[in-house]
Amino acid sequence: MARWGRGSAGHTVIYGSRTPDDARIRELVAASGTAARALTPAAAAATAPIVMVTTPWVATEAIVKSLGDLQGKVILDTTNPFEFRDGRDVELPVEGSAAQMIQAWAPGAKVVKAFNTLNFRVMAAPEKAEGPSTVPLAGDDAEAKRIAAEIIATLPPLLSFDVGPLSNAYYVEMIALLSVNVLLQKRPDAFELVLRPRAK
Ligand SMILES: NC(=O)c1ccc[n+]([C@@H]2O[C@H](COP(=O)([O-])OP(=O)(O)OC[C@H]3O[C@@H](n4cnc5c(N)ncnc54)[C@H](OP(=O)(O)O)[C@@H]3O)[C@@H](O)[C@H]2O)c1
Repeated sequence: MARWGRGSAGHTVIYGSRTPDDARIRELVAASGTAARALTPAAAAATAPIVMVTTPWVATEAIVKSLGDLQGKVILDTTNPFEFRDGRDVELPVEGSAAQMIQAWAPGAKVVKAFNTLNFRVMAAPEKAEGPSTVPLAGDDAEAKRIAAEIIATLPPLLSFDVGPLSNAYYVEMIALLSVNVLLQKRPDAFELVLRPRAK
């Protein structure tokens, strides 16, 4: 995840890690500025009004259910429902979409699908998109989507685009799954997914 300490949106970043005192996490925190810190996932979620869920899909149910009371919190869901097996990507079954499953595991939270179409290099350094790159937002809560859009607005050249209700997360996840599949083929003519704003 991008190394944000205190972003220009004024949000303080608290990393949630199973091993918040590990050297690699301490390094990440140190590189993120003085406002950042690391706690266990449950402690981080208890402290924060906005929770970014960014775990491998197979770990996500247990993690979300371990986070305690998420009532009223905004969840930014970056997950894509697949796992790597023998160097390949294998799609994992979901009911509707990964985002809708997270919503079911955290019924009082306001889930927004976001960031899942961005390659990690672009997440860490948005300028690597080499131009405007649109982040689709799917969710059922308008205020939560507004908050997600506000965060994205602080990360130029990323742009956000509201693609509608949380059920539309399915389409956004399928775009990302295709992109992962193509990247793993390592073909010289492969494409990388960047969603550009429509040409005028
Ligand atoms: N990588 C990308 O380019 C990219 C782009 C878009 C979307 N995504 C999606 O974002 C999510 C995270 O991707 P990632 O590449 O960041 O994954 P990752 O590096 O494999 O995992 C992220 C973090 O999740 C924690 N974790 C890993 N396995 C876990 C387990 N079994 N139980 C509990 N926590 C576990 C680990 O944190 P600790 O060890 O510190 O606890 C790890 O650093 C995935 O759903 C992926 O599909 C990834």
